[in-house]
Amino acid sequence: MTSLEVGDVADLPAPSITRVACGDRWICLVRTAAGSIFAVDDDCPHEGYPLSDGELLDDEIECPAHGSTFDLRSGAVTGPPAMDDVATHPVDVRDGRVIVSVRDS
Ligand code: FES
Repeated sequence: MTSLEVGDVADLPAPSITRVACGDRWICLVRTAAGSIFAVDDDCPHEGYPLSDGELLDDEIECPAHGSTFDLRSGAVTGPPAMDDVATHPVDVRDGRVIVSVRDS
């Protein structure tokens, strides 16, 4: 697991979707309208399009390519055509800084 400090929570508007690099991977960092922060792989399990280009639907994200939806809390696929869940990564806020613990793939 790799810890990645991605900036100040104050710099993440609610709602917003941000693409952040972690080594050779991309992470989709989401702040919902309610203020919750989630991180998932920026790689749709269907055909690999970046979820960071998608739409935020409360606590779900919709892939821009074919419309699969994923629960940001669990990564569970909630709408087709994707069959597999997307990987999630724990997020902590410490002293106003946002830290993502990127799981090994
Ligand atoms: S690539 Fe995401 S739904 Fe097809």
